[in-house]
Amino acid sequence: KSGPVVAIDGPSGAGKSTVSKTLATAIDAAYLDTGAMYRAATLAVLKAGVEPTQAAQVTKTVKNAKLEFGTDPADPFTRVDGEDADAAIRGEEVTKAVSAVAGNKTVRRFLIEEQRRIIAEAKQGIVVEGRDIVEVVAPDADVKVYLTADPVERAKRRAAENGADADATKKDLERRDTADSKTTKPLEAPEGAVVIDSTALPIVEVVAKILALLNNRD
Ligand code: C5P
Repeated sequence: KSGPVVAIDGPSGAGKSTVSKTLATAIDAAYLDTGAMYRAATLAVLKAGVEPTQAAQVTKTVKNAKLEFGTDPADPFTRVDGEDADAAIRGEEVTKAVSAVAGNKTVRRFLIEEQRRIIAEAKQGIVVEGRDIVEVVAPDADVKVYLTADPVERAKRRAAENGADADATKKDLERRDTADSKTTKPLEAPEGAVVIDSTALPIVEVVAKILALLNNRD
């Protein structure tokens, strides 16, 4: 029997990555950060000097790029054309351009196919985080969670992570949430998902809640 598939959606700064990695480690499962996949595709586009809004060129660039994703929660690396991309995909340029690339329909179809392939291959189970995992990528997941938090708290966490200013980060998150809303619904709980608000909840408690959902499913 294969291990469980856990889908975790939510806006940035809600704690998805930390929760997902901690959970995957706890249950000995793989981990997939789909945001890193859209970021890696965006890095490939920027490196090629292609405008993120040039649909045909973006599609071609992403399909030709060699994108690699490590699914060990202890070392979830991202490589673009053989080069380590973990730092670059979190940088300002990629963060600014990612919504446009993630809005490209062909890019989405291509990456979603790749996501489903990775999920199918993870026989030990997998924790998948993103924006459309519950509704699109893995609607048959064993546990479905929508992880959210108050916008001010989300901005504070992101700012602390990046060593950036909280107000500027809040504006950036709002801009990205709005841009992403054309494609996914980062601010809405998907149907069938258990909503967890992490505003006042420590990571360990969020993880404990999801573990309880996993253990109590029928
Ligand atoms: O989660 P993270 O902030 O790294 O995601 C980066 C971007 O990737 C999001 O702002 C969104 O544009 C895109 N994304 C997406 N669908 C997903 C995951 C991320 O469109 N499942």
